[in-house]
Amino acid sequence: MERIKEEFDKLLVDVKDQESLKQLKARFLGKKGRVSELFKNLRNIEPQKRKEFGAKINELKEYIEQRLNEKLLEIKQKQKEESLKKETIDITLDGRGINFGGIHPITLTIMEIEEIFSSLGFGVEVGPEIELDLFNFELLNIPKEHPARDMQDTFYINDNVVLRTHTSPTQIRVMKRQQPPVMFISPGRVYRRDSDITHSPMFHQVEGLLVDKNIRFSDLKGVLSGFLRRFFGDVPVRFRPSYFPFTEPSAEVDIGCIICGGKGCRVCSYTGYLEVLGCGMVHPNVLRNGGYDPDIYSGFAFGLGVERFAMLKYGIDNIKLFFENDLRFLEQFSLAKGRLL
Ligand code: FA5
Repeated sequence: MERIKEEFDKLLVDVKDQESLKQLKARFLGKKGRVSELFKNLRNIEPQKRKEFGAKINELKEYIEQRLNEKLLEIKQKQKEESLKKETIDITLDGRGINFGGIHPITLTIMEIEEIFSSLGFGVEVGPEIELDLFNFELLNIPKEHPARDMQDTFYINDNVVLRTHTSPTQIRVMKRQQPPVMFISPGRVYRRDSDITHSPMFHQVEGLLVDKNIRFSDLKGVLSGFLRRFFGDVPVRFRPSYFPFTEPSAEVDIGCIICGGKGCRVCSYTGYLEVLGCGMVHPNVLRNGGYDPDIYSGFAFGLGVERFAMLKYGIDNIKLFFENDLRFLEQFSLAKGRLL
């Protein structure tokens, strides 16, 4: 028994992991292990000495069990220390940067336009993108077969329903609902069969309408000039006579070219000016169609292309960049770059 104990002690010193500990346990305490052999040999011992012998073997068994348990704890403790050592955090490493989301430049531009008009007292209205021909054209003084329909190449859903070609139908929808004074802008998506570097089949407009008693062209000029200067900075603004079936008189508004400062360049076709919106005094027929009496009320309306505003403000030279979702483009409008508001 002493020899077995010595042998066990010697072997235990070399045990370094749970697997060899298990093997050692089997070798001494397993069914065919050294200690079990001793128990089996008991029957060869003289009966008087058997009890004493049995007690000694039990002592040895308990000793081995205890040492094995101690060793197991030791191994587990060592493993724990090693894994803690491996998992330590190197606090000298740079942190992982937080990626800020951004706001799409078109949304950003609409937000900015809304902010300026809200500060002047304009409300915000929205209309449907799938619109009745009646609202998109007829009640805006553009009857069927009218040549002005060619100005906006239309996606028809059926004879009476279109993808709206501009935000102007919102004018009719609001007028039908509410008597003057009305004063709102209406941003949204519009659709035309049109595509090149400054035109897209889906784009955004912001409509504006103000109707009350005694509204004159000078009001239109004052509001729009003020708005354009707040949006683009201190630029020259000019009103040019134009034609829209739903306004009379009508005008297009130009601002001094932001790219060349008015000297003349490729972007402004060497005129020094860039067209930015259409506007005019609401046509009496349109007031009537909306349920207003043109002898009592007058008003002005305008419509602008949001992509055009964003392109000029941020120096973007291709409208497709807004719709390609290229992160290298969009990230420039990330919150982290401090672009927002
Ligand atoms: C209109 O759509 C009129 N409804 C504007 C208006 C409203 C006039 C109220 C008077 C009173 P126009 O077709 O010019 O007008 O379009 C307005 C702006 O939309 C243009 O100046 C241009 O900036 C933008 N735009 C037109 N077509 C496209 C297109 N395919 N892609 C991007 N922007 C476009």
